[in-house]
Amino acid sequence: MSTAICPGSFDPITLGHLNIIKRASKIFDEVVVCVMHNASKTSPMFTVEERVDMVKRATARFGNVKVESDSGLLAEYVQKFPNAVIVKGLRAVSDFEYESQMNLINKSINPNLETMFLMSEIKYTFISSSLVREMASYGSDISELIPCEIVDDIMRKAETWRK
Ligand code: PNS
Repeated sequence: MSTAICPGSFDPITLGHLNIIKRASKIFDEVVVCVMHNASKTSPMFTVEERVDMVKRATARFGNVKVESDSGLLAEYVQKFPNAVIVKGLRAVSDFEYESQMNLINKSINPNLETMFLMSEIKYTFISSSLVREMASYGSDISELIPCEIVDDIMRKAETWRK
C-alpha cells in the first residue's frame, strides 16, 4: 500500500493545497493530510482543531484521504506509516529554497525519508493562506481561492479579527 503524507499548517486550506491533495490521491493508495505547527507562523487564525475540521470538510469527496494533526516533528510523524512519502506542492523558486531546506532537515532526522514535489498548476501559483487571511480581514471575496465548504468559516472568523 502506497501512502502520501501531505503536511502543512493549512491556516486555512486553499484551493492550491486541495489541488495537490487531489493529485496525490490519484497517484497513491491513500493520502494522509497532517495539520502541523510551523514555528515561523506564530499567530494562527484558526486553532488546530478548526483547521482539521475544515480540511476534513474540504477533502470529504476524496475516498482515500484522511486528516490528522500532530504537534511533533514531521520526520518522526511519518515513521508511523510504513514506506510513506511526503508530498508537497511547489509554486515558485521561493518555495523551492524553503522546501529544499526542509527536505534536508527532515532527512538529517530520518535518512530513509523521501519527499516528492508536485508543481502547482498555474492558476494556483499566486494563492497562499496568508493572502486569504489578509483578503478576508478586509472583507474581500475569497471564494475563488479556497474550497467552497469553508468560505463561511473564514469570513466569520475574519469579522472577529477585524474588530
Ligand atoms: O504549510 P506550511 O506552513 O508551509 O507547512 C510547514 C510544516 C508545518 C510542514 C513544517 O513547518 C513542519 O514540518 N512542521 C512540523 C515540525 C517540523 O518537523 N519542523 C521541521 C524540522 S525542525
